[in-house]
Amino acid sequence: MSTTTNAPATTDPRPRVLTGDTPTGRLHLGHYVGSIQNRLAMQETHRCFFLIANMHAFTTRPEQPADIRQDTLEIVKDWIACGIDPERSCVVLQTEVPAIAELTWFFAMLLPFNRVMRNPTLKTEIDSKGLGDQYSFGFPMYAVGQCADILAFRPESIPVGEDQVAHIEMCREVARKFNQVYCGVDPHAEDHEHEERGGVFPVPSAMVGKTGRLIGTDGKQKMSKSLGNAIFLSDTPKQVKKKINAMYPGQSRDPDEPGDPDINPVFEYAEVFIEDESFVEDLKARYRKGDGLGDGHVKAHVIEAVNALLEPIRERRASLEGPDGDERVIEIIKDGTARANELAEDTLARAKRAMGLSFFPRSLS
Ligand code: TRP
Repeated sequence: MSTTTNAPATTDPRPRVLTGDTPTGRLHLGHYVGSIQNRLAMQETHRCFFLIANMHAFTTRPEQPADIRQDTLEIVKDWIACGIDPERSCVVLQTEVPAIAELTWFFAMLLPFNRVMRNPTLKTEIDSKGLGDQYSFGFPMYAVGQCADILAFRPESIPVGEDQVAHIEMCREVARKFNQVYCGVDPHAEDHEHEERGGVFPVPSAMVGKTGRLIGTDGKQKMSKSLGNAIFLSDTPKQVKKKINAMYPGQSRDPDEPGDPDINPVFEYAEVFIEDESFVEDLKARYRKGDGLGDGHVKAHVIEAVNALLEPIRERRASLEGPDGDERVIEIIKDGTARANELAEDTLARAKRAMGLSFFPRSLS
């Protein structure tokens, strides 16, 4: 364990990152390559905060608290199974970080209403979840809340999938605005200068994973639980095999006929999950020629690679099943959230000071 591991977040010299997931069920391969892989690498070099955005889960299903509670525990199990190390990183429960809710209010007043409603990620979600005009007032509010999730931790960067970039852009706008309005930062200041010029908030940047958008097993849309085209990190080897074998290879061909790997989604998986790049190139060349290379053959290689990736994840996850597992997870989030609150309260106090709201100090403990 390094000496900085348990340093209070307020004095740890390492640059910080913050990212999170809404508990909507189990994580899938799209999450893994879009964001989790980056998170694992960053645990080595950064002070990491991983937020369970359980408040956001209530914005679309407020009448399902029991499911949300279960999903909250499941997502932490997925993280730990992937290799997120609670000794080194803070696993943070959004609903127990009051500074986030308070900052959300302040930020909501710095963002024009129409700006929030133009956010393309919100629009896409309204379509894909079929919300029509029936969504709650709190639903678009979550995008403002996400700015607060991030800025409460004053991070340098935010590892996310491509779909989150629009939210990060809004977060950057609100950081600049706050610093200009309440901290006197020059509107022409460069983003990287905001803190040194007296701004409370950095202007953090999105860091999109190697594969920002992984195609689903339907070969058409982004992998997503709600579209039913996902391979979950907790799927059994058999389920993985079944899902990949059922994929349409984008064309119908004979093993001896030339094929086009570029329109075959199975090759997208080959590129992402088979580590040996020259092997994949070779496979593609043979597919183009025909060469007796059937689709089942390509799929078999992909299935093997995906299962090799998932095997250690499954093993670690199995050790967290059952009531003991739940208890351990609750301990992990309690500890991570306590450390997160030290930093988030410090941020909030700074923001309030800048806003002329520092009438007297307060303490959470
Ligand atoms: N909206 C993100 C998602 O659906 C989850 C999230 C909530 C998040 N707060 C965040 C991501 C802060 C990055 C930073 O995946």
